Amino acid sequence: MKRLIKVLAADGVNSELELVIKDVMVACKDIAYKLGQGELAGILGATEDENVQGETQKMLDVISNDLLKDILVANPYVRGVGSEEEDYTIAGHADGKYLVTFDPLDGSSNIDVNLSVGTIFSILEAQDATPGDNQEVFLQNGRKQVAAGYVLYGPSTLLVMTTGKGVNLFTLDTNVGEFVLTKEGLQIPEDTAEFAINMSNQRFWEPEMKQYIDDCLQGEEGPLGKRYNMRWVASMVAEVHRILIRGGIFMYPYDSRDPSKAGKLRLMYEGNPMSMIVEQAGGASSTGRMDIMDVQPDGIHDRVPVVLGSKNEVAKVVAYHK
Ligand code: AHG
Ligand code: MN
Ligand code: MN
Repeated sequence: MKRLIKVLAADGVNSELELVIKDVMVACKDIAYKLGQGELAGILGATEDENVQGETQKMLDVISNDLLKDILVANPYVRGVGSEEEDYTIAGHADGKYLVTFDPLDGSSNIDVNLSVGTIFSILEAQDATPGDNQEVFLQNGRKQVAAGYVLYGPSTLLVMTTGKGVNLFTLDTNVGEFVLTKEGLQIPEDTAEFAINMSNQRFWEPEMKQYIDDCLQGEEGPLGKRYNMRWVASMVAEVHRILIRGGIFMYPYDSRDPSKAGKLRLMYEGNPMSMIVEQAGGASSTGRMDIMDVQPDGIHDRVPVVLGSKNEVAKVVAYHK
């Protein structure tokens, strides 16, 4: 049984970064416990607040955010944190090297119906002395990430993460309270016939995306020549996890519901970490027009169109956009 800490050490992760990742996991184990308590702890349902994205915050969005934020800003190696649930980035320690961005609870519309949710995190290195409450220090492209991962709170609690040396899967052993390595070097199958997209937005998509999905729906008689299956969990973590295990393509493209938004998903704590994981597992990740990790962020809450998963299928979607 290889514990997370041992795997990080074997991958050459320095002790400072290791302690940052360890603290993220302390918070995630607490989140897993609280999700398990659910109604018993009286923490289901919504708050009366909205986040900076204009979304109503669930009680568990706020609780998960506070757990991650509080432990990370107290970590001496953390310069600052940025979260979906915080309007601005928050300072940690002035001489801390690491910047952590996170989506404390992804897929939170699933909470009240007891379906899968997750936590997504991304770790960058500060490139200069800018303090962590100035978002400028965070505005680096996804290629600069030194670690990225997600925790999936499903029937078991899983951690999937990368420090740039492939992707490993850990399962939380609740007996000992540790994440234990259960699959090494995950690889996404290159081909797939399974797509995930919220079809109810079809009429708002760009013509390129409409065309690709139309062609998928035509099955073996259509130009793509195969019969596609479809899934939509409405939780990106669960969706990406399915793709890592059995292949597939996940899309949340640009749509014209609010033309001022580049997409629904956020670059710095959804798009980038998931892209690093997917690429490290041999998959691909694109906006449809460029690699997500090459997009230069202008703000901590920037949005991005997302197309990721099995390499050859992502290449087809990119070809529709040319
Ligand atoms: P969050 O719960 O962090 O706001 O993210 C939800 C995201 C993503 O996980 C999911 O793929 C997508 O939003 C679901 O959107 P729809 O409700 O439009 O299906
Ligand atoms: Mn999310
Ligand atoms: Mn969220």
